Amino acid sequence: MDNKRYGHFDDQHREYVITDPQTPWPWINYLGNEDFFSLISNTAGGYCFYKDAKFRRLTRYRYNGVPMDNGGRYFYINDGGTVWNPGWKPCKTPLDSYECRHGMNYTRITGSKNGVEASVLFFVPLHTWAEVQKLTLTNNSNEVKRLKLFSFAEWCLWNAATDMENFQRNFSTGEVEIEGSVIYHKTEYRERRNHYAFYGVNVPIQGFDTDRETFVGLYNEFANPDAVIEGHPRNSHAHGWSPIASHYIEVELQPNESRDYIFLLGYVENKQEEKFIAPQVINKTQAKAMMARFDTSEKVDAAFAELCDYWDNLLNIYTANTGNDKLDRMVNIWNQYQCMVTFCMSRSASFFESGIGRGMGFRDSNQDLVGFVHLIPERARERIIDIASTQFPDGGCYHQYQPLTKRGNNDIGGGFNDDPCWLIFGTVAYIKETGDFSILDEMVPFDNQSGTEVTLFEHLQVSFNHVVNNLGPHSLPLIGRADWNDCLNLNCFSWDPNESFQTTENKTEGSQAESVMIAGLFVVTGKDYVELCKILPDHIKTMQNLKDIDFAAEADRAQRHVDEMVNAVKTHGWDGEWYLRAYDFYGNKIGSDECEEGKIFIESQGWCTMAGIGLEEGLVERSLDSVKERLECEHGIVLNNPAFTTYHVEMGEISSYPEGYKENAGIFCHNNPWVIIGETVAARGDDAWSHYKKILPSYVEEDRQTLHKVEPYVNCQMVAGKDAYRPGEGKNSWLTGTAAWMWYTVSEFILGIKPHYDGLFIDPCLPKTAHNYTVNRRFRGGEYEIRVSNPKGVSKGVAKMTVDGMPVEGAVVPAQPGKHIVEVVMG
Ligand code: GLC
Ligand code: GLC
Repeated sequence: MDNKRYGHFDDQHREYVITDPQTPWPWINYLGNEDFFSLISNTAGGYCFYKDAKFRRLTRYRYNGVPMDNGGRYFYINDGGTVWNPGWKPCKTPLDSYECRHGMNYTRITGSKNGVEASVLFFVPLHTWAEVQKLTLTNNSNEVKRLKLFSFAEWCLWNAATDMENFQRNFSTGEVEIEGSVIYHKTEYRERRNHYAFYGVNVPIQGFDTDRETFVGLYNEFANPDAVIEGHPRNSHAHGWSPIASHYIEVELQPNESRDYIFLLGYVENKQEEKFIAPQVINKTQAKAMMARFDTSEKVDAAFAELCDYWDNLLNIYTANTGNDKLDRMVNIWNQYQCMVTFCMSRSASFFESGIGRGMGFRDSNQDLVGFVHLIPERARERIIDIASTQFPDGGCYHQYQPLTKRGNNDIGGGFNDDPCWLIFGTVAYIKETGDFSILDEMVPFDNQSGTEVTLFEHLQVSFNHVVNNLGPHSLPLIGRADWNDCLNLNCFSWDPNESFQTTENKTEGSQAESVMIAGLFVVTGKDYVELCKILPDHIKTMQNLKDIDFAAEADRAQRHVDEMVNAVKTHGWDGEWYLRAYDFYGNKIGSDECEEGKIFIESQGWCTMAGIGLEEGLVERSLDSVKERLECEHGIVLNNPAFTTYHVEMGEISSYPEGYKENAGIFCHNNPWVIIGETVAARGDDAWSHYKKILPSYVEEDRQTLHKVEPYVNCQMVAGKDAYRPGEGKNSWLTGTAAWMWYTVSEFILGIKPHYDGLFIDPCLPKTAHNYTVNRRFRGGEYEIRVSNPKGVSKGVAKMTVDGMPVEGAVVPAQPGKHIVEVVMG
């Protein structure tokens, strides 16, 4: 396969620059990081929504369309009969130049044709429920240009699911208002909705369209809308069918003249009693105020500068200077940026996740926290409380909740027995970063029912106990519906293709299905829980609700359970050369050399090595060697081997995928870092680095853009494994736990700067070839410049450390305000 390049990194501007619009798949970016979000591809395709991609979808998008990536915010320029778009699509008129720059929550698309350049800057200003589109038209020719400019957006009727299915209703409900240069979308505002959307521009318009059929023509396409091709708008007013918003502007540009047009696509909520100013006439006060905030280039430029400063500030919290550009750009820019996106989206809206099926995952969001908490700890804190509020009193959880309501989503159900452990994982990461123990004293309800509140600490306790209270015949954790691997459905037994593996009723009664992966996860998070209990007495003096707990006794009790789990794994979870994966419903082994297919799985190797189970006896190293021998391939580590070649009803969805894809022996990138961290536990820095590099986007970017297919600046969930038709092909980009895990791995375990309760614990694990590097880290009000040198070329072990010139015992840099220089010598 050829290795064409479609773009390159521009590290100075923190941008990825796409120079060919025909990327192997739409390469997208995310705008907005609070309440209002947009997905935007390199040809301006995509959509926007407020908080919840299912319930508050503002503009319409067609997934898996033909051609690909259909629908977006489009500008059409009709220049004397030649019609083109700055982002090439949808007209696909060949451009004289094209460039798309995806940056930190903004995208700039520039195209030129016949002497006219059109450049559009797209971003969602901070604290604003709107997408700004600043279009700059420049006449680079020697003649006067008279252009006809048409904007275009298509409204979604709010609920993205019913928008795609309930046409008998939808075709009759659409309503708009047009006032001045602003088009208002008010479908269902007459009844229960108190929100509307609008699309306006800061100059007078010479026409508009709001009815799709009139604008496009029934048998035309976005590529050749009637109004644009004929060069005159219809001033159509939508009643039902499909409402759109298109402004028409006549532009005259002298040679070398340049002019800005500011478009704003926004969302407004009104109070019930302030909805209307006259019968069925909506109250536009807030929309007008928002338009006024962005009605000049100066105001927009200032808002953009504010966004850029915001990102400067965030990305200055942790910066590495290793001398390796490919590593530095991922650590300092793209990995952290992706962590922000996964924090905001969980797994809801990407070009692979339709924004309909999934809200915020309990386990996903907890894991996302470890990549985000250093950036904005206050938001991490709020998230932890939101997540814990959906938990049940017995420690079990809804698997997902909706971002709009923050309520557990009943349709998706629960019973995934790994879920509770992740709450400990996320909360501990938060406290280690911030030192804010008070979060444990917060009163948090179960299942959002008021009156059920207990402290967050007690939520952690019930989480811990949920594992202890649900052990199977080998004293290993019962798996329930599934563990982290949603597709290892050991209690599902589905023969009905109309059933969802994920939600159909399970036969957990009498099941012996146990998970060695949860066992490892429990040992890791259980040790964290014990440690927390031990140090909490020093921190509860100022607390309201936590006073009466006997933490010492709780620590002892918890430690016993952790020890028992370690023993259970050694006794019943070790297969000889690697850790078993599970026991099935009947108590048969899964992930054993005795099995025909699926002899070895990655998840239990990852978690049991991270937990250091059997480290002294050499189990950790043997497990890691088996991973290298059986699971590793050119593009990363596959999930299981050999792949399942037939459907196994007793294993469920995992065996539904063809070989090499997704959970059936795909490189499920999310779990590769577990093995990498396991390698650092075994002090094998060369192996850790070699696994890490294989899935590091900047390395993939260099030599496999075409094969990899999806965006080369972020991790994707899955890369086709060695058994697939085309190993190395990526899918499901952006929304994956890989982002947080890659960050956690490189920042804490490879570069080795670990936030700890008392300070920063310095414990790198490096390839032996690594020499000197520096990490600048802001931490609890202090600023640390940490200089690591490795004169002897070792992988692990801090021989000497000084803070501000003073030698330190051990390897913890105490948390203290001010600037500090830390010198670390490995050896
Ligand atoms: C998806 C899910 C995640 C799950 C993983 C493995 O990424 O979001 O929750 O753990 O698949 O099945
Ligand atoms: C499918 C996917 C898995 C995902 C799950 C939940 O089973 O294979 O990755 O986590 O759906 O949406």
